Amino acid sequence: MAPVSLHLLSLTRLSLPFRDTVTNPSTPRIPPWRRQWISPTDARRRRLSMPVSAVAAEAPLPRAVDEKETPAAGEERFDWLDQWYPVAPVRDLDKRKPHGKMVMGISVVVWFDGGGGEWRVVDDACPHRLAPLSEGRVDGKGCLQCAYHGWCFDGHGSCQFIPQAPALGPPVHKNSKACVASYPSVVQNNILWFYPRSEPEYKEILQRKRPPYIRELDDPSSVINSGVRDLLYGYELLVENFMDPAHVPYAHRGQFPHVPREEDIGRYLNLTRKVASRSR
Ligand code: FES
Repeated sequence: MAPVSLHLLSLTRLSLPFRDTVTNPSTPRIPPWRRQWISPTDARRRRLSMPVSAVAAEAPLPRAVDEKETPAAGEERFDWLDQWYPVAPVRDLDKRKPHGKMVMGISVVVWFDGGGGEWRVVDDACPHRLAPLSEGRVDGKGCLQCAYHGWCFDGHGSCQFIPQAPALGPPVHKNSKACVASYPSVVQNNILWFYPRSEPEYKEILQRKRPPYIRELDDPSSVINSGVRDLLYGYELLVENFMDPAHVPYAHRGQFPHVPREEDIGRYLNLTRKVASRSR
């Protein structure tokens, strides 16, 4: 499993060269007919037991919240599953189709709910036969339709339609087992964020806890370069790398126009910040 990380940097800061949004290349896209059948419960348990990190490839999974550890005296326990995580810059998302993403080791599908007029994040597994919903479509009513047997889901994950169910039969689509897990999500700073808990008690989590607000990202004088890239190492190494500008003229030689190309440019790098003039 490869992780997904999101980086949002002002142009005034040095960064790795980013490609445009990249889907997780190592996320297997297994046709439904070749998938080993596992129950939704097993699938969720597997997800929670997978190695997880916002950016770490093989970092140990944050323990499920019911596996509480006693923190040392004076040590604050960090709950990985009680945080908001960036999924994608909104500008990278196409409202006409679902997008499969892997965040925190959870396979999710991002799609635009035509009925609610909002981006949604739900499990990328159909409750029927676990086909990846990211391979489905957004139907004419704005619902997410599974590509395998056509079950349709609304923005809250409720099944709205089962094509094979008799029209005059019992409303089997209302069975709770026909729902797909839906996660709290919100757009902030032009980023789609999600909260990795789908239980009902977290439905209103946004009222109690919001994603971190980054003022500069909404500042019109800032020029933002954003992208998503899978990195096969941990976030600790990435943060350390960003705090180490001395590597830039060597490791990224010739990649940045404002970095001198001379062999020996000195021991430090001058960083400048450009502020665009605002027209009144
Ligand atoms: S797997 Fe059958 S409708 Fe999704």
